[in-house]
Parts: sequence; structure tokens; C-alpha cells
Amino acid sequence: MNMAMKEVDYEHPRADASGSVCATKHAWARVPQEPGPSERAALKEKIRHLLKEKNAVMVSHYYVHPDLQDLAEQTGGLVSDSLEMARFGRDHSARTLVVSGVRFMGETAKILSPEKRVLMPDLDATCSLDLGCPVGEFSAFCDAHPDRTVVVYANTSAAVKARSDWLVTSSCALDIVKALKDKGHKILWAPDRHLGAYIQRETGADMLMWNGACIVHNEFKAIELQSLMQQHPGAKVLVHPESPAEVVMLADAVGSTSGILKAAHEMDAKVFIVATDNGMMHKLRTLNPGKLFLEAPTSGNSATCKSCAHCPWMAMNSLADVARVLESGANEVQVDSAIIPRARLPIDRMLAFTSALKGGHDAGSLVPNIGAA
Ligand code: 13P
Ligand code: SF4
Repeated sequence: MNMAMKEVDYEHPRADASGSVCATKHAWARVPQEPGPSERAALKEKIRHLLKEKNAVMVSHYYVHPDLQDLAEQTGGLVSDSLEMARFGRDHSARTLVVSGVRFMGETAKILSPEKRVLMPDLDATCSLDLGCPVGEFSAFCDAHPDRTVVVYANTSAAVKARSDWLVTSSCALDIVKALKDKGHKILWAPDRHLGAYIQRETGADMLMWNGACIVHNEFKAIELQSLMQQHPGAKVLVHPESPAEVVMLADAVGSTSGILKAAHEMDAKVFIVATDNGMMHKLRTLNPGKLFLEAPTSGNSATCKSCAHCPWMAMNSLADVARVLESGANEVQVDSAIIPRARLPIDRMLAFTSALKGGHDAGSLVPNIGAA
């Protein structure tokens, strides 16, 4: 298949005594070709057949192409956020998981199910947060602050997870940090500075931040959002907390991908302005046919660069590659078996905490008091 390459800027932070400083670096993403209607139908049929033949199940993130979202659901798999993707992959009996998303999602699935074969359409699909948090520098940052409980976002490498005490996703970060604060923990947080700052404002926790950012959410612009709000006076604003504080401040609801879906469903408005990856529009629109969803602006007079509100790495997932990896077994996710047990610890803590919360149990009891073993 012909593939165009796309240059991507991302921030590569380095820790210093006060936290960290940033220097912008470069990465790249592949842009898959959109298949024509007949090729598309044939690929979907082929994937359905291969999933059965290979005892495989497909798990897709809300940000990937609508075809991959629909196919996952139609074949007994799941389209969801990174937390539910991890739980579903762990609990499903299929021998092979096909993870359409970005690399940390495939790695998390492998860490939770080392006995399963985890395939990804493109192993180079990464994340600016993962790229911006190299394990060597991050470990040095942790070593410099041994009194802090290390909380990392799921959007990190297996090695960074293995250096952490707790893992969080955007849907449970607030609850977990609040529980840690209530038990007296001071937090070392990585890598997303905007999500970290949001949680700090909401919980009042003592948090020392790594200085990473999501290249998609970092681009939402408050000034342009305000002018779009003026054009749609009754609209409700839904914002992912990886967005800058000025944008979060304008929100009627702040939430993870699943939080945004829930708010859109429950809020009594006809028009919504949404500040998150525009891959979300597919689910928002199909689940809420009577409502209008507008993308929050990412460019304009206050913008430093233009972006399209779509993650270049999520966009690397294609029908053709799903079919190819299922057929050939290529692109199997590998995680060093030596780090799996340590990397699994913070993930298991997160899954136990969120299961307790979901079941109405005392999730806080799963968090030790500071100083306790
Ligand atoms: P969720 O944890 O909400 O799935 O988000 C992952 C992500 O990459 C957001 O940009
Ligand atoms: Fe990473 Fe942002 Fe892409 Fe999510 S949208 S995978 S945080 S770069």
C-alpha cells in the first residue's frame, strides 16, 4: 500500500530541579490511504472471517477510524476508552487481541495478558505523551523525589509504568489522586501537564509535574472557542482535561472520552462544542442523533500552528492493516518479560480501584496510608 508520511511536532521535556523544561522535537506518522467503497466492503468481510478463524477479538479506541470502531462492535469486540479497553482485553477469552489505537494500549493489553497474542495494525502508532517521557530521564526525576508517590498516565511506555506506583487514565485519575491525597500522599505526576494541573486544581493534592502534553488537545484555543460559543449561545461545551487550563475553564463538563459521551447523552442541550480528538464525533453523533456536535477550534489568531484535532498516530490504524496482521500474524506487540510483573502492579491497582468504585465499594480502602508498606 502507498503510504504518505507526515511530520509531527511534539514536546520533549527534560526534568530539572524545579520540575522540567521543554524543547520541541520531531516525530512522524504514516497516513494510510482511504480505500474505495468496494475495497472497504471486501476488507471488512475479510476481517470478520479472519477474526473467527483466528479466535481473535478486536478492541478499538474512540479516536480511530469509524470503520474500525463499528467493526469492533459488530464482531463482539469493543470500542471504548483506554481504561475499558484494558479491562476488556484482560477478561476476554480470545487467544488473540487486535488493538486498534496507539502503542501504549497494545502494551497494556500484553502486560495484562502475556499469554495472549496482541496484534496492532501499526506498531509505530505512538503518542506525544509517551514520546515525551523517556524512561531514563523519568527515572532520574523519580529518584530525585523519593518521598513522592509516582502516579503515571496510561499514555506511557511499559518501562515508565514499571517505575510507577499507580497508573491512571483520564476517566479515573481524579478519583485515584483524591484517594491518595486523603491518605497523605504527595504525588509525582507524569506525563501530561494539563491533566495534572486540572487534577491539582480539583483535588488540592500536592503534585510535582512532568512537563508533557498531547499534541492534539494542547492545540485547542480559548479565544476561538469563546467566539464559537458566542455564535451558538445555547451550546454546551465538553472538554477533555488534556486541554489547556483556559479551555478547561470554559467547559460545562470536563471529562475523559467516556465522560464526554456520558455528558453529551445526559445534558439537556441541542448543540455541543467538543474539545477532544474528532474521532469522538462518530460515537457522539450515532448515539445522539437529535443533537448537533461542533468541533472546538484548534487554530486561529491565537494559534501558534494549525492542527486538525485528530491524532496522527490514531489515524495510522487502517482496515488494510487489520486484515494484514490477522492474516500474517505480523505486528505482534512484545513487552520485555522481565518488566511485565512490575509494570503490571500499577495497572492492577488501577483496575482494582475502578472495579471497587464501579461496584459501590470503598475504593479508598485499597490505597495505603502514607508510610504503610
Ligand atoms: P482515554 O483514556 O480517555 O481513552 O484517552 C486516551 C487518550 O489518548 C486521550 O488523548
Ligand atoms: Fe497521545 Fe494525544 Fe494521540 Fe491521545 S490524542 S494518543 S494523548 S497524542
